[in-house]
Amino acid sequence: MVIRPASEAVAKTGAASMRQRRDPNTLANYNEWHTTHTTTDFVIDFGARRLKGTVHLTLENLAKDSREIVLDTSFLEVSSVRANDETAEYQLAASRVEPYGTPLTVSLPATTDLTASHVTLSIDVATTKDCTALQWLTPAQTSNKKHPYIFSQCQAIHARSLFPCQDTPDVKSTFTFNIRSPLPVLASGLPTGPKDFRPGEDGKSGTLLYTFHQSIPMPSYLFALASGDIASASIGPRSTVWTGPEELTASQWEFEEDTEAYIQAAEKIVYPYAWTTYNVLVLPPSFPYGGMENPVYTFATPTVVSGDRQNVDVIAHELSHSWSGNLVSNASWEHFWLNEGWTEYLERRIIAAVHGSDQYRDFSAIIGWKALEDSIAQFGEDHNFTKLIPDLKGKDPDDAFSSVPYEKGFVFLHHFEKLLGIDKWDKFIPHYFTTFKQKSVDSYEFKATLLDFFANDADAAKKLQKVDWDTWFYAPGFPPKPDFDTTLADQCYALADKWQALAENHKKSDFKPSAKDIESWTANQSVVLLERLQSLPNHPITPELISLMGSAYGYESSKNVELVSRFYTLGLMSRAESVYKPTAELLGKVGRMKFVRPLYRQLIMRDRKLAERTFEKNRDFYHPICRGMVEKLFEKHA
Ligand code: BES
Ligand code: ZN
Repeated sequence: MVIRPASEAVAKTGAASMRQRRDPNTLANYNEWHTTHTTTDFVIDFGARRLKGTVHLTLENLAKDSREIVLDTSFLEVSSVRANDETAEYQLAASRVEPYGTPLTVSLPATTDLTASHVTLSIDVATTKDCTALQWLTPAQTSNKKHPYIFSQCQAIHARSLFPCQDTPDVKSTFTFNIRSPLPVLASGLPTGPKDFRPGEDGKSGTLLYTFHQSIPMPSYLFALASGDIASASIGPRSTVWTGPEELTASQWEFEEDTEAYIQAAEKIVYPYAWTTYNVLVLPPSFPYGGMENPVYTFATPTVVSGDRQNVDVIAHELSHSWSGNLVSNASWEHFWLNEGWTEYLERRIIAAVHGSDQYRDFSAIIGWKALEDSIAQFGEDHNFTKLIPDLKGKDPDDAFSSVPYEKGFVFLHHFEKLLGIDKWDKFIPHYFTTFKQKSVDSYEFKATLLDFFANDADAAKKLQKVDWDTWFYAPGFPPKPDFDTTLADQCYALADKWQALAENHKKSDFKPSAKDIESWTANQSVVLLERLQSLPNHPITPELISLMGSAYGYESSKNVELVSRFYTLGLMSRAESVYKPTAELLGKVGRMKFVRPLYRQLIMRDRKLAERTFEKNRDFYHPICRGMVEKLFEKHA
């Protein structure tokens, strides 16, 4: 039995949806007021570790009868609020509403004209030490150890810990960023030039006002800033990479071959790139994600700079968000698959276009299917979070995060491609991205638009009639598994079989592992081999075989963290003590949760003391979100 949420019936009415509060993860009354422009005047204070300044929100008056504006905040200090430059009464709720924070209710003065179309609020605000959107790094935590560093990560609901806002992807605003810092600043808009140098006092360095403008309306979760000792280099005609000066040439090499080719491939599938330039900021190693699609500047983990151009698919992914997510945004985190499923789909279409064959895209989809299996195994097959549209009322979207929206979403779109045929489907793609350009969209609007587009095509309409939408949307667990081209994966499985035979009966096996086995492989093929060996029943791989594999295939000395982390995980599963110390060392060098999570999980089970020591040593190195995640792991395995 599939239970439909009441919100489906509501959202189906379409036109009125802007007036509905279809996002359950915000406390803002965004059905009554709608932010149209945001200006953030901030000073980055590295000494006090806070952002302080004034935020101006221009809000459209939708209801015309509401004198109250409720905004999201989380761990913020608010010291004054003005409405159209007049002092306004405001109230921060006495206690937090977990996990959504502390609503700020502004009462408009009696003099505010409610018949006017807009009101501008100016709010004096400072972040606090509990801010979940920022990581402050000491000079010692950066690579050249010379300067402090700060970066933000707002997705999903952390923008509210930077400034009061309608923190929902169902509201889009243009942005002006005015950010004063002693170090270069990037923000998710186009640079409009640093200005207004001010000399520092008491021997402190001077500051510049770095300014940016984002003229395409975007949701609050795409607000981003970073400041530190960063330099830039060209990686294409409309692209630059930014990173620490010492890492610059390596980062340039990693991306310069593919970036423009990817942009052009995406433009062919959808339509021209809208954000003028596409740039990549390579962050310090504690960045908790692989990449984050902040407009104009994708934020990326330094683990993508692996020296072999084998992890640039992360760039294809974040670039794809320039259409799916950033131009066309999920209306709430319940419809996150519309961001990530579409992005996986476009990423893999780009990979196929650049390679000129579907083999690579299907190989990536096979890796994705394995990730889906792992996520479903973690939650359990009946879990709400394994639905394409989970119910997130009262929940923290970060807790629902998994490969499900990515891979179930991808499989859903792939299903339409095969059902309708690629030629017809390819006509729908630009239509969808045009229909919802600069808007927010939910799954019901996606469905209505698809059905409507093919309504006059009898053959396609008939095929679409057979789609069991309720099952796709609300049934937990696995979708039907597509037929992928397994050419590239088969070689990995065949080699895994040889290792299994060697492990289970080494007398009978004549397999002599050597570097030749994987000579022509991509790093991701080694990833598939290692994951296959991880999932063998009874873990037959012995510590001796782990050492043999590490030296024969060069895994133990690889600079590619995707590969090394899988190798260590397999080693830990196999109780190969030779990898315990290197695992602990790696956990002091990378803070990307994708690697940190499985490595701690295994290390806690194998050598809890070492895991505890490693965590204590690196606690400050990890991003607050990552630190919280590891703490939960220790509790779970207590
Ligand atoms: N938007 C996500 C990262 C994200 C999602 C941050 C939800 C916070 C909350 C980004 O586009 C992403 O999916 N990154 C992946 C990259 C990968 C799929 C190529 C990652 O970080 O691993
Ligand atoms: Zn993504």
